[in-house]
Amino acid sequence: MKIGMLTSGGDCQGLNAALRGVAKTLFGAVPDLELYGIQDGYRGLIEGIWRKMELREFSGILREGGTILGTSRQPFKTMRDLNKDNTDKLTMMINNYKKEKFDAVVILGGNGTHKTAHALSQNGVNVVTLPKTIDNDIYGTDYSFGFDSAVSKAAEVLDAVNSTAASHGRVFVVELMGNKAGWVTLYAGIAGGAEMILLPEIPYDTMSVLRLIEKRNKSGRNFSIIAIAEGALTKEEAAIPKKERKNGGSTSGSRLVKELTEHLEQDVRLLVPGHFQRGGDPTPADRIFCSRLGAAAGELIIKKKFGRMVALQGKSIVSVPLDEVAGKSKTVPIDCEVLNQARLLGISFGDD
Ligand code: F6P
Repeated sequence: MKIGMLTSGGDCQGLNAALRGVAKTLFGAVPDLELYGIQDGYRGLIEGIWRKMELREFSGILREGGTILGTSRQPFKTMRDLNKDNTDKLTMMINNYKKEKFDAVVILGGNGTHKTAHALSQNGVNVVTLPKTIDNDIYGTDYSFGFDSAVSKAAEVLDAVNSTAASHGRVFVVELMGNKAGWVTLYAGIAGGAEMILLPEIPYDTMSVLRLIEKRNKSGRNFSIIAIAEGALTKEEAAIPKKERKNGGSTSGSRLVKELTEHLEQDVRLLVPGHFQRGGDPTPADRIFCSRLGAAAGELIIKKKFGRMVALQGKSIVSVPLDEVAGKSKTVPIDCEVLNQARLLGISFGDD
């Protein structure tokens, strides 16, 4: 059996743990296994760059961040663009897959990756996928791997900022990753004790932010921590169609800091941890999750159940057809339990 594996899109913690899970499962059960690591995501499949891998190469990577296979972003919308040879990336991948006589490809990726995986699957490529992204916005799974680790990193930032904000009586705006989905900001904000959490899903009112800061100041707590997702918008910004928004390259956090600085005498600071959130080792919870997903993906291959994504639903690892996953995303429902519980704790979402 000849299997390829690739990691695609932005990296996250746990990719190596998941690759190891797949490899261990397959090497343990398939006597004639030939496992190939495809380099840098879909780019490797497009250009035919892969190498045969042995089981020992997956040793010692359980706790390592990044991906031993490398990754790249190959946007789905460019997959059918014709190149100078009058062919496209999707066709090149399908041809390479057939030429190399792969039996299946294991694909670890997020939403964009799943659209391409689905297209491959519809064109005769046997595919099994694993849900990877710190954004936790993949449809069909309760969680994606990397999310727990990113929340842990982001909470670490909020924790650290708390004491210095209190010492100086400052307002800290901490801008966290998440362009369309605010999961990391919501969970890290709760874990890190933020007073206010601003999400892409809930356009906020700057006056509401100011009111909260002033209320805290009056009550003797002269510092505030605001966790804002990179995709958060004010109500005014959200009312403008996306293409017409002119933010001049500014970020959500910098725009909020500018507004607050104009209205407050208090010192307002911005902190953007950026890729710190995606770096470093996976948490033990992610290592366990990735190992389970890897084992389940290996099992699907052994059973020849293709065109599916392994997923967590409730407490069980299941698999979901790519037809149900591709082209959808899972943002934070504005009436979800965790969000309502955060409100009960007195956390503001800038909409009151
Ligand atoms: O993986 C998703 C994500 O982490 C987003 O939250 C973020 O906007 C984006 O990736 C940034 O990724 P990069 O800078 O690697 O393109």
